[in-house]
Amino acid sequence: MRTEPEFPTTIEDVRVWKEKSIKFAALTVYDAVFSRIFWQQGIEVMLVGDSLGMTVQGRNSTVSVSLGDIIYHTEMVRRGAPKAWLISDLPFMSFFDFNRTCRSVAALIQAGADMVKLEGGSWLCSTVEKLSERSVAVCGHIGLTPQSINIVGSYRVQGLEDNSYRRILSDAKSLESAGVQILVLECVPTELSEEISKCLKIPTVGIGAGPSTDGQILVMHDVFGIDTGLPVRPRFVRNFLKECGGDFRKSVDLFRTSVTSGSFPGDEHCFHVNERVFCGKER
Ligand code: KIV
Repeated sequence: MRTEPEFPTTIEDVRVWKEKSIKFAALTVYDAVFSRIFWQQGIEVMLVGDSLGMTVQGRNSTVSVSLGDIIYHTEMVRRGAPKAWLISDLPFMSFFDFNRTCRSVAALIQAGADMVKLEGGSWLCSTVEKLSERSVAVCGHIGLTPQSINIVGSYRVQGLEDNSYRRILSDAKSLESAGVQILVLECVPTELSEEISKCLKIPTVGIGAGPSTDGQILVMHDVFGIDTGLPVRPRFVRNFLKECGGDFRKSVDLFRTSVTSGSFPGDEHCFHVNERVFCGKER
């Protein structure tokens, strides 16, 4: 088994990885057993994502996930991985005014999170600024933002057309200026995530966003090829567990080393500008 880092992973470590062009692998996780395994297999950045609505609760979107749900899972994950850099999602409508945002953030940090993640573009800048002034580490999330499902209608790649490409690029720059310290880019074309990752100083983490981001994150169930009951399997996932003959630890290792070596995602897992795609399939 690999030697575990002696000290907790910090945001400074993640910044240094970017400066030194060291790619990193992150995973979503929802309980103590898996967070312990992930840490032991070298996953130092973990996310308690509101994807737990689908992966754990059997719902078909993230919008019904409550703050209490994220708190409960954050506590468990933290017990299993005391030294990981742990990001927790602020769920739908838990950050609609600043008082409420502060209460939500305090609860997540007291449950064990190091950083909170908010979905949305430049409209969030004043919230991010105020949180940063109050010493809260904030992760942004742009591109496909699943909490907007009732507005966008489907889980589709974002930034394929000129105007949405430019909007996402400008959101990335504004969020960095506002104080975001890590930025998740979900389901955007490779060209866009490459441009964003080059022009921002903060680390970017991609999911379905091509190989050029500083880190990659996947929903843990997708690494293991576990069917969560959703109708479409996205193009950007790869069944690492199958490739490792069903060995969980080896499959986490393979995911991590594939990311750090740059072999995942390969072009077959990517989207490109002007490509006509819908949930990873032809429209
Ligand atoms: O909730 C989640 O799992 C996420 C990842 C897809 C980045 O936000």
